[in-house]
Amino acid sequence: MNSSNSAWLKKHNTVHLMHPMQDPKALQDNPPLIIDSGDGVYITDIDGRRFIDLQGGLWCVNAGYGRQEIVDAVSRQMEQLAYYSLFPGSSNPAAIALSQKLTEIAAPEGMVKVSFGLGGSDAVESALKIARQYWKLEGQPEKYKFISLYNGYHGLNFGGMSACGGIAWRSSYEPLMPGFIQVEGPHLYRNPFTQDPEELAEICAQIMERQIEIQGAHTIAAIIAEPIQGAGGVIVPPASYWPRLRQIADKYGLLLIADEVITGLGRSGSLFGSRGWGVKPDIMCLAKGISSGYVPLSATLVNQRVASAWERDAGFTSVYMHGYTYSGHPVSCAAGLAAIDIVLRENLADNAARVGDYFLGRLRELQERHRAIGDVRGKGLMIAIELVKDRQSKEPFGPQDAYPLAISEGCVNSGVMLRTIVNKLIISPPLTITTEQVDEVIEVLDRVFAANPW
Ligand SMILES: Cc1ncc(COP(=O)(O)O)c(C=O)c1O
Repeated sequence: MNSSNSAWLKKHNTVHLMHPMQDPKALQDNPPLIIDSGDGVYITDIDGRRFIDLQGGLWCVNAGYGRQEIVDAVSRQMEQLAYYSLFPGSSNPAAIALSQKLTEIAAPEGMVKVSFGLGGSDAVESALKIARQYWKLEGQPEKYKFISLYNGYHGLNFGGMSACGGIAWRSSYEPLMPGFIQVEGPHLYRNPFTQDPEELAEICAQIMERQIEIQGAHTIAAIIAEPIQGAGGVIVPPASYWPRLRQIADKYGLLLIADEVITGLGRSGSLFGSRGWGVKPDIMCLAKGISSGYVPLSATLVNQRVASAWERDAGFTSVYMHGYTYSGHPVSCAAGLAAIDIVLRENLADNAARVGDYFLGRLRELQERHRAIGDVRGKGLMIAIELVKDRQSKEPFGPQDAYPLAISEGCVNSGVMLRTIVNKLIISPPLTITTEQVDEVIEVLDRVFAANPW
């Protein structure tokens, strides 16, 4: 084995690795960059090419690369205690400290308890299981269904995948879990109703209410949604939508689960996406930015209403029969504490809001010059550029169209790492990015669009 050899790595990457969300045949024709090191907002591949990382890893490296505090925290923890479990009979200090920290920073949302996992899909799975058990403990076991939104993404475990609102994520693995229903969410750029944001929010809220009434509120455990939809294409709801979701949940006696796997820890320009909408959910799912992607970690937070169901003496049914060997892994939790400390100390949520606004403004200038840019949308440092064949009809480029890939490849060849989801260019850089670095990116985008006129 010569794993430092570029040709060797490229060959074995194609032969042995199953890459998530990728057609293995396409992988041969279109091999990925193999990233070898990172520093700040920059990454370098095995051939020594340097890129500004507009992906932020996968929406997760909020604090940027090469943060010595996180490295030190991990190595100290490994030296002191590499592992101990939270299963009956034991606990560990790092997990205790991180649960305290998370409930402290999410105190305005009313969060009081934490269940740990290793990634966003775990966080969602835990939230769904908590919601179902909550209603059993409340003596209403028939409340088991979940309502989520079209274009919503909730990870790819069976629970979260069943809540996903897009065929592409679901079809190869059907049948999915029963009891999951999707309804239309407010997508301003693409909806059959209206171009007025507040009117759209109200229409979608009413669609949600009608679905709850058709199903029967007595059968529904919770609404689960992202404060800003990420993988669905960075769909930012109108400001009144999340407050309406809270009202609806209260009106019909449902729990409200905020899937903050991307929006949590600063990315959307406030510490949590729910906070940005002025809403207190009952359950919050955190992952990605919680450890800035340095180690696998996720957390599911619950408020007192939910937690109190476990405080009554319900015998065996009140056992929280959920968790993993690595729930509350001390090394992950030590990394989480250090990463959160950076996000708070450096006010990265504020930086995301400020630089995100600047980024959006500059992208809208590009939109005026390049016809293929149909829409530019986002909040904080969650941004999408949607590419269309025709601005009037908004006809999107499809998976077979080469144009979006030509743009992202042009960017990569000019040192900007950009993710494409079909016809959307996704921008989710480390939250430490500066306006000067944004200017560099805009220059590259401008050049690449000009070289690929539509
Ligand atoms: C909102 C949301 N929920 C859940 C997940 C799943 O997270 P993971 O890929 O870490 O399992 C993601 C991943 O992107 C996400 O964006």
